[in-house]
Amino acid sequence: MSTFPATRLRRLRRTETLRRMVRETHLRPERLIWPMFVVEGEGKRQEIGSMPGQFRVSVDRVVEEASRAADLGICSVLLFGIPERKDAEGSSGWDDEGVVPRAVRALKRELPELAVVTDVCLCEYTDHGHCGVVRDGEVLNDPTLERLCREALAHARAGADVVAPSDMMDGRVAAIRAALDGERFESVPIMAYAAKFASAFYGPFREAAESTPAFGDRRAYQMDPANGREALREVALDAAEGADILMVKPAGPYLDVIRQVRDRFPHPVAAYQVSGEFAMIKAAAARGWIDEPRAVMEAATSIARAGADLLITYFALDLARMLRS
Ligand code: PBG
Repeated sequence: MSTFPATRLRRLRRTETLRRMVRETHLRPERLIWPMFVVEGEGKRQEIGSMPGQFRVSVDRVVEEASRAADLGICSVLLFGIPERKDAEGSSGWDDEGVVPRAVRALKRELPELAVVTDVCLCEYTDHGHCGVVRDGEVLNDPTLERLCREALAHARAGADVVAPSDMMDGRVAAIRAALDGERFESVPIMAYAAKFASAFYGPFREAAESTPAFGDRRAYQMDPANGREALREVALDAAEGADILMVKPAGPYLDVIRQVRDRFPHPVAAYQVSGEFAMIKAAAARGWIDEPRAVMEAATSIARAGADLLITYFALDLARMLRS
């Protein structure tokens, strides 16, 4: 191997044209998925305090909001529902007239090309804020599966293009696959939140979705941030159960996990740059401590470089705009 002075890596960094020619990682708008929050009511577009520039919109405004993304070449949105009525079971989660099914129907009617992904989880719908059925302070695994299946079916009936279970119950991908197939939704893919960590970076989301657990935390079902090998077991199980797309979440603090999933599985890999990752960049930029557009592009490029094919991010519109210019 030749070394200095014959080798000078700075030669290919000298001009912007040369840098562009040898750039290894490229983001594309069609690989971005924009998460959206849908609320009950009419004419609502409320900014989320901890997520500047992100809004909770009512069903009647969801099409207008999503077309902002579609106009920029973004192919997909991920819907979260915030119902008016929450109960211990999370029953508004599988209501065919719930916010998510209604939003899906509106989007598929007005923007048929836009792929609509729905988050399948109970925490937005339960009054205790946990992702499953609670008995004696514990989140029960198996009784939760049946409810998740009902929720996934409600989304599929409404016309969801992809369902994305984010609850981290064991066996939920197999259960949802069987439920979908049983109702002739065998063509609806599952994007599994396969390695989802119990993360402090979900803070702003829980404000947005009003889904902070009323007691305890999610560490008895979401993963320990220390565990990379276990993440691969989680991913392998979801793959074996029939997941079509494998997701790692959060993204930035787990680039090693993204890389290992990319290297070991042939599936498309998605990474979710979560609300806290978004809020940190926004907060620092608001104080003039970092250059927001550069930080946004760098964080997204790094997630792609680590191996993510799809990037779920609240910066989707900003990124798509930057990629255009
Ligand atoms: C629901 C869910 C959460 C997120 C996505 N789906 C919250 C949680 O698990 O507490 C977090 C997304 C974000 O922080 O942007 N289970």
